[in-house]
Amino acid sequence: MERATRVSEHIESAAAAADILRVLDTVQSSLLHRAEEHALADSSRATVISNQITDTRAAIAESLQLLGANLLAVGSRQDEAVASLKRLIAGPETGALAIDLYLGLLEKVLTGTLHGDAAISDTGTAQQDEIRRAVGYDWPATAETMIGVARLRNVRMLLERAIAEKIPGDFIETGVWRGGTCIYARAILMAHHQPTRRVFVADSFRGLPPPDPENYPADTNDPHSTFAALSVSREEVERNFRRYGLLDENVVFVEGWFKDSLPTAPIEKIAVLRLDGDMYESTIQALNALYHKVSPGGFVIIDDYILKNCAQAVDNFRSTHRIDAPLSAVDGAAVWWQVPASRGALP
Ligand SMILES: C[S@@+](CC[C@H](N)C(=O)[O-])C[C@H]1O[C@@H](n2cnc3c(N)ncnc32)[C@H](O)[C@@H]1O
Repeated sequence: MERATRVSEHIESAAAAADILRVLDTVQSSLLHRAEEHALADSSRATVISNQITDTRAAIAESLQLLGANLLAVGSRQDEAVASLKRLIAGPETGALAIDLYLGLLEKVLTGTLHGDAAISDTGTAQQDEIRRAVGYDWPATAETMIGVARLRNVRMLLERAIAEKIPGDFIETGVWRGGTCIYARAILMAHHQPTRRVFVADSFRGLPPPDPENYPADTNDPHSTFAALSVSREEVERNFRRYGLLDENVVFVEGWFKDSLPTAPIEKIAVLRLDGDMYESTIQALNALYHKVSPGGFVIIDDYILKNCAQAVDNFRSTHRIDAPLSAVDGAAVWWQVPASRGALP
């Protein structure tokens, strides 16, 4: 009932915002038209107002996108609730219930929603905004992953599909930050008794590389390499795994810049490939080095499809290799696709 109310509130807010956008468009065009028609002495004022309308429009459009993402996240929560209810009704599956409870709790802890972990802000930290955290729009002050609740659930859904559909291979994330998503993946595989599937943890463990505009023009002026908060050492990630009791021989660290480390990473078959390196360079290098190792029927997740340079790398790779498997949205930022069961040769 409470969820249903929240969903309808979001729908109403989205509809109201869309109405405002339409009104703004009309006001803006009539303002410019009148300024031109009457050669208003004060036409520069009309331009200033028009610019303000453009800015307001952009802010409302951004809120609309966030609302849309949140609706998706709320929707996926409802689907999951129905699925787990069905499982409960189906019979005394203590094991399935225990797995649900364990992974559900981990999800809350790893995203910092259990204790309202603050967000990193320009002024230090800011109070957590539950909606932004659900869809991974902020950087947690202390929690182990920044991808948010909806994207963690997507990892669980695809790993569980890989297990149920017997798609062979390991999990790898390229770009792990504090390691939260990989910790979650290890927990999922352990909870489902998958002793032969490994989790590969690939990162420089010193942040992102400076842009290389000569080779990757799309990354020109990309600021990610300047963000100190994105630099997390291997020791800290190992410590995080250990704190959850999940560091074992099935966790393999792949340390270094992707261009050096991924082509020789000791991974043979991949069931779920998750890319989270933000930049064009980091995305294309991971796809070039690893895509051909994804098993037929396996999955590819792109965390940063919302970022222009990352999306460009993905689109270029898909068109070069004639990959037309449909992209599915996760939460307004990430997308995933399933590698066709029969696919042509890749590099
Ligand atoms: C946005 S963070 C990843 C967030 C993480 N997946 C999570 O669950 O919170 C991006 C990470 O990618 C790594 N990275 C990006 N580009 C890289 C590259 N070319 N080589 C090595 N590491 C890279 C950074 O060091 C950083 O840890």
